[in-house]
Amino acid sequence: MNHIEICNIEKSFVEEGKAIPVLSGLSLAIEKGEFFTLFGPNGCGKTTLMNILAGVGLPDKGEIRLNSESHNSFVSYVFQDFMGSLIPWKNVEKNIAFPLKLRGIGKAERKRRTEEIFDKFDVKLSPKAKIYSLSGGQAQMVSLLRALIVNPEVLILDEPFSALDYKTRLFMMETIQKIWHTAGVTIIFISHDIDDAIYLGDHLVILSERPARVKGSLEIPFERPRDFNLFGRPEFASYKKEALEIFLSL
Ligand SMILES: Nc1ncnc2c1ncn2[C@@H]1O[C@H](COP(=O)(O)OP(=O)(O)O)[C@@H](O)[C@H]1O
Ligand SMILES: [Mg+2]
Repeated sequence: MNHIEICNIEKSFVEEGKAIPVLSGLSLAIEKGEFFTLFGPNGCGKTTLMNILAGVGLPDKGEIRLNSESHNSFVSYVFQDFMGSLIPWKNVEKNIAFPLKLRGIGKAERKRRTEEIFDKFDVKLSPKAKIYSLSGGQAQMVSLLRALIVNPEVLILDEPFSALDYKTRLFMMETIQKIWHTAGVTIIFISHDIDDAIYLGDHLVILSERPARVKGSLEIPFERPRDFNLFGRPEFASYKKEALEIFLSL
């Protein structure tokens, strides 16, 4: 079943009196429970599209259909600038519980849910730690947990690795796979790195330069859980070649 249908989205920004098209007639379908990856060059319009999907921005034209089955929060969004999205004067546990506070959930229940999520994902972070003391990977973890605390149906991760060093990035790739497996969410993972997209995704969609349009897509049926041996497999190289052919095609 399609969880999300993005239909003919158009969006322009006005710069110096001129309309610059960023999305022009973009359509996508995302299945329930899949690990969907979206690959496209810098500045092509990926974040603009995710903002529209999350309700942070509005399209000029087009429609988004959400097929929700529950009363949970539908979409949680881990912003590209995850560090800047944390509240600096609140500690780790208060940042994570903040979406619950916004929903009017009382202190005792917030504490219970925060403890529960620490256990569920085996989090090795001090709940009382200050935001300024966190490494990039720890701050990313806090952003992820804050997104997950409301039990969303869909988790958007906008270039979650771009500010992380390589080792942390490898660790976060494992963590995100675990989250997907444990939380049973639909993941929309935005990337400008084709290796990450193929390693993690079930279904990869490749976008053009701005204005973004879909150039093509690939199914990536590798078994799970996936590990780093995948990078050495001949099938990995052939998916990558196929993806690059789509990306470089006219
Ligand atoms: N609020 C805005 N006002 C004007 N231009 C914008 C705004 N947001 C994004 N853009 C422009 O739209 C294009 C796509 O941006 P973005 O969606 O952030 O790209 P991506 O996430 O794919 O790197 C870029 O050229 C960017 O400069
Ligand atoms: Mg972006």
